Amino acid sequence: MKFMFDTANIEDIKEYKDIFPITGITSNPSIIKKEGKIDFFNHFKEIRKILGFEKSIHIQVVAENCEGIIKDAETILENIDNKIYIKIPVTEEGLKAMRLLKSKGVNITATAVYTKIQSLLALETGADFIAPYFNRMENIGINPREVIETTANMINKYNYSTEILTASFRNIGQVVDAFSSGSQAVTVPPQILHDSLMMPSIQKAIGDFTLDWENIFGKEKSIYNL
Ligand code: G3P
Repeated sequence: MKFMFDTANIEDIKEYKDIFPITGITSNPSIIKKEGKIDFFNHFKEIRKILGFEKSIHIQVVAENCEGIIKDAETILENIDNKIYIKIPVTEEGLKAMRLLKSKGVNITATAVYTKIQSLLALETGADFIAPYFNRMENIGINPREVIETTANMINKYNYSTEILTASFRNIGQVVDAFSSGSQAVTVPPQILHDSLMMPSIQKAIGDFTLDWENIFGKEKSIYNL
């Protein structure tokens, strides 16, 4: 199982990276828009400094035709570093670019996946990760669980090394469902993970334990200063 943060916010990455067991971060132009007009290459170099090379960074291309996608990818790899995962939407031009980049050893994340066929084509084209859009599928009446399950079955049946990196979440139930359906990885806004541990029942249980402890040993005493 892998968790990633779907964010390019440096403060959030710094704050939450030591809390949640993440293996990387993902972004796209809409995520970058939330950061304003950033110094694009330096921004991601800084994220690399924070995360190190053990964790993966996924950056999406903007060009829509194969030639442009390749140029975007090469520019990202040259100006940030060559371990970046290049996120490419699964279109005809995208598949063509994925194949060419893969043959040069570039790390690829196939994205904007709404359907089973997009997923299966990206799988056979050699993407390292495939990113189905969970919430966006639900919004248009496609069952994301079925898309993930079919992809996971093919990965297992034919021994692909590709991993499903499900994206587009609005709540923690969707995240858990993605894993249950066979996703090996998810990318989640850190706030959703944060909120999932802030539920009143958890806070109440901890509060009750503290009260019972204080009742015996008094306030300000923990185990470390008994
Ligand atoms: O990583 C792709 C993801 O960010 C799309 O999510 O929240 O825009 O539906 P969303």
